[in-house]
Amino acid sequence: MRISVTEAIQLLRAGEVVGVPTETVYGLAASIDHLEAIDYIYTLKKRPSNNPLIIHVAELNDILSYLEGKTSDLEILARGFWPGPMTIVLPVKCKLIPAKVRADLPTVAFRIPQHPLALELLKQTGPLVMPSANLSGYPSSTHPEHVEHDFGKHFPVLDGGTCQKGLESTILMYRKGGWQIIRQGALAAESFYPSLGYMPKIQQQKGEKPLCPGGMYRHYAPQAKLTLVQSFQDITEGVIIGFSDRNYPAGCKVLALGPLAKPEFVVSNLYAILRQLDQEKHRQAYVDVNFLKSGILATLSERLHRASEGA
Ligand code: TXA
Ligand code: MG
Repeated sequence: MRISVTEAIQLLRAGEVVGVPTETVYGLAASIDHLEAIDYIYTLKKRPSNNPLIIHVAELNDILSYLEGKTSDLEILARGFWPGPMTIVLPVKCKLIPAKVRADLPTVAFRIPQHPLALELLKQTGPLVMPSANLSGYPSSTHPEHVEHDFGKHFPVLDGGTCQKGLESTILMYRKGGWQIIRQGALAAESFYPSLGYMPKIQQQKGEKPLCPGGMYRHYAPQAKLTLVQSFQDITEGVIIGFSDRNYPAGCKVLALGPLAKPEFVVSNLYAILRQLDQEKHRQAYVDVNFLKSGILATLSERLHRASEGA
């Protein structure tokens, strides 16, 4: 059910959960002052309680009073990338933020989103927790219809159209004398070089314990099984997720992400295409992963790998 900004403000103030557009993906929003609404988010998403939530605010000033100590280069990052698809994990004064939001960690993830409707809302409501608006483990929502599909057609969603980026924010954490990327996202590692003077190291999720608790769980995966392939030489039939500027075997049905020559456009279509697979009840699909894993395509590659791991 589509709602206006005014209705969204009223519902959030009354302790309800609503779908909210951001430039990355849609979020499930609740006020940080309403603990029962925060609980309901975990229930709605079927999200494990040890996976903390991102707090979204309208401006940097809104987070300063929560912070414990000073973190180097915070202002530089905030000035360079907020509002925008960057989330920063920072040490906080624990008693000021409900343990449910932090999943009992001494840190909190913060973000200032760029979508005008999200910003308008945040200015009126104050800080909102907003995990991605999808069932835990499945593809995120980049359109109001996706939110309604996952949570029912009567679920209140503020309609901000299709998300411009279509990938979640990049999450940074300061560690061992430098910033690290603990979840790849809509901002490529290279984007931070001009501001920081170095490229933040990407923390690998495999092998070591992920710093981003969400990294422990199934993620972004449709019900259909995804098989990642470098070459289509031996494939004669089936469904392919690929690129519109490439040729694939004639007997296959191709779901095109867009032309590889336009990486931003390609990644913005990822979740809609993964959802389309399930809607059309395909059980299996091949995915073309024969591309250079640099810039935003490094995030695409990570998402496709995670999505192919399934349950
Ligand atoms: O683009 C986005 O970030 C979207 C939009 C709605 O803003 N939100 C989003 O939230 O992707 P969610 O909950 O789906 O993913 C947040 C990730 C989770 O993997 C969680 O483990 C991690 O952030 N996270 C949250 N708090 C953290 C913390 N204190 N330390 C490390 N990771 C944290
Ligand atoms: Mg998510």
